[in-house]
Amino acid sequence: MPALNHRAEPLSDSWIRSMTQVSRQHEAIDLAQGFPDHQPPQVVLDELARIAHDGPHQYAISCGSPRLREALARKQEAFRGTPVDPEREIVVTCGATEAMLVALLSVVNPGDKVAIFTPYYENFGPDSIIAGATPVYIPLREPTFEFDADEVEAAFKKGAKALILCNPSNPSGRSFTHHEMDVLAALAQKYDAWVITDEVYEHIVYPPHEHISMAALPGMWDRTITCSSLSKTYSMTGWRIGYLIGPPAVVSVAKKIHDFVTVGASSILQEAATPALDLPPEYYASLQETYIQRRDLFLNGLDDLKVTTSRTEPEGGYYVLVDIADYGYDSDEDFCVDLAEKVGVGAVPGSMFFHEPTNHLIRLNFARDEAVLTNALNRLSEMSKLRRARF
Ligand SMILES: Cc1ncc(COP(=O)(O)O)c(C=O)c1O
Repeated sequence: MPALNHRAEPLSDSWIRSMTQVSRQHEAIDLAQGFPDHQPPQVVLDELARIAHDGPHQYAISCGSPRLREALARKQEAFRGTPVDPEREIVVTCGATEAMLVALLSVVNPGDKVAIFTPYYENFGPDSIIAGATPVYIPLREPTFEFDADEVEAAFKKGAKALILCNPSNPSGRSFTHHEMDVLAALAQKYDAWVITDEVYEHIVYPPHEHISMAALPGMWDRTITCSSLSKTYSMTGWRIGYLIGPPAVVSVAKKIHDFVTVGASSILQEAATPALDLPPEYYASLQETYIQRRDLFLNGLDDLKVTTSRTEPEGGYYVLVDIADYGYDSDEDFCVDLAEKVGVGAVPGSMFFHEPTNHLIRLNFARDEAVLTNALNRLSEMSKLRRARF
């Protein structure tokens, strides 16, 4: 057989998606993959019904339907205060997943270094590998998952050309403070580096924490590529509508890469999703309230069960890291398989989010409906049966 692409050799199957399969196999409640149960907004469903008849059913303009890009620009300006040119500064992609890869491919050459905070969302490693870049990892240390500015600076001194910043952060639950963002912005400017942000949880932030966009900080617009999507904010993870916003020089490259890889996101779904972007501020307040309730229900429930979490109060996103050190497992993967099979709850092994060896955490998501979370908590009350004899 002719040789395969050696760059793909380090890639493994996604643990998140694999654990969802394990959950299905054991009829476990899936708290592995991060998706909510509730429907997308009614305006979107109505528009989908209308467009199913009226179209468009053919290709959209590759960089995204003009109507959607204009709506994205309006929303971005309303929330971040920065005007965005829908023609020259936005590309609509197949989810933030594609946006992140396209962003990297637009600024990184094979052999370049990319700084990544660890723990990190699993795609960032493979994205760097596909782009031919070498990751330089910067630890976010438990229990607060803060970074050390000297370690960030050391990554830039090693030559990192770009920093990938997930904010709010999956899986750590961090929503970086003004001070932290200023530190990162100053270092990116000092070392003339790009910042590629993943902001899919921008509207799932728990007060008093607030979301700060890197691109909105002084001096950062020209060196920041903001990636986000409609997946989490409008409960439409299956629609695969995301976007990338950046300065025109980057966007003109990103448009070409995106065009040759996908031609474009689904035209019918782009059109149908557009009214979501014009929802009033009350929509976002109610979304936040929904997640505050789910977070409180789930974390209080875990607390009642005496389940130890790595960080009691996530600041953003909808994940919690549970500490399994007391259960006596050598492998967090084995623990997660047993959790699905014997307790009936799907989780993701924490080790897959960390560059450094880590075996004592699993990730659960609390995006699911309250009834599902309550059911999951009932099952988790049996988690102590996984405790191994020598412990
Ligand atoms: C940090 C982060 N980025 C991106 C994604 C995927 O986003 P999308 O559905 O827009 O591709 C996820 C999904 O869990 C995520 O947690």
